[in-house]
Amino acid sequence: MDRLSERPVNIDVGTGYELPEPHSASDLVEVERGTPAGELLRRYWHPFALAADASDVPRPVKVLGEDLILFRDGSGRPGLVHHRCCHRGTSLYYGKVEERGIRCCYHGWLFDIEGNTLEMPCEPEGGQHLERYRQPWYPLVDYHGMLFTYLGPPQLKPAFPTYDVLSDVAEGWEVVADDNNIGLHGDPTPCNWFQTHENVMDPFHVYVLHAGFSGNQFVAEMQSLPEVSWHFTPHGVKSHQDRELDDGRFFHRVTEVLMPNVRIVASPFVEHEGQATSVAWTLPISRTETKIFTILKRPIGSPSRRASYGGKRWEELTPSEHQQMPGDYEAMVGQGPVTLHSEERLASSDRGVVMFRHRFRECLKQMAAGEDPPAVSYDAQVQAARYEVRAGNYIGDRDEVISRG
Ligand code: FES
Ligand SMILES: [Fe+2]
Repeated sequence: MDRLSERPVNIDVGTGYELPEPHSASDLVEVERGTPAGELLRRYWHPFALAADASDVPRPVKVLGEDLILFRDGSGRPGLVHHRCCHRGTSLYYGKVEERGIRCCYHGWLFDIEGNTLEMPCEPEGGQHLERYRQPWYPLVDYHGMLFTYLGPPQLKPAFPTYDVLSDVAEGWEVVADDNNIGLHGDPTPCNWFQTHENVMDPFHVYVLHAGFSGNQFVAEMQSLPEVSWHFTPHGVKSHQDRELDDGRFFHRVTEVLMPNVRIVASPFVEHEGQATSVAWTLPISRTETKIFTILKRPIGSPSRRASYGGKRWEELTPSEHQQMPGDYEAMVGQGPVTLHSEERLASSDRGVVMFRHRFRECLKQMAAGEDPPAVSYDAQVQAARYEVRAGNYIGDRDEVISRG
């Protein structure tokens, strides 16, 4: 009999020592080419930069773990190519942008925005059979000043989806692209995209993290504990957050996620009653880096509001203020670079997170069965792919507002 089995078994159980080896759910967090989730993500268009980021200076960008170079050729066309030159692999970060494309610094091969080799200056007659040499490239779409790319199988490239809230723009309003992330402007958030994205189906954290723990960061309408329900939709999952306001009106707030990484969240500052005025995407930059890109509609020139941390902006906080007044950044990065799903103890308020994970896994199964994932359309007519947003802040008579979202 060894020492362990001689001792009583039921004292002080539940210590960390008893945990099994922790692990992440790899099917949810992978982003790389060839992995099931990475292939699912590669069936959609993703925003990754502002149109203004494409210039005559090669700019390194990373999308789904792939190192790429963004540039704009002399005729104004944006291009996105692998950062490694297809000749002998130096980085096109050191290239020069010219009228017709980007020229590698090492041996001067010139590539156009679709990776076609136009010149090989060290080869006889400036290169023969140029068509045999192609720099890996990806297609781009500029949508409202945001650049989107598609990294999946070329023959399965979907029609570019559009959204009614961004297309129907009233007089005096404008549509702008915004790469303001949670955390520091421009910097990726150092954690996996999935834990960032599933937060959208976790409305209860608003009541604690944003409306009490770190002060009330939004507005009075958002402060009380809502009655929450979650619902599967044809393209994803949505949540209803219902509150009786002090003035007797009913506040029906609807938040949506569309597969795999679209987030439609009405403004938590509730400036406008009705349908949400923005659409955002949670971009997996790599397995451990994430960035949120937003396209929003607003009255022309109106400043965008940000959460308040005791009257300061997040980026103005000292390290000790970050500890005392955490926000989404701290909560999500605090889960680790990739959260450990094996150590979670989910409760009833996590139902939306569970539903989103379930929906994501259903998509993986569809892919494995050779089917198209949801919300993918090959109809060349963009109108066919236009999405009608349900998310919003609906305020008024109870029955009337519930019918709207
Ligand atoms: S490595 Fe790019 S031209 Fe040789
Ligand atoms: Fe949040």
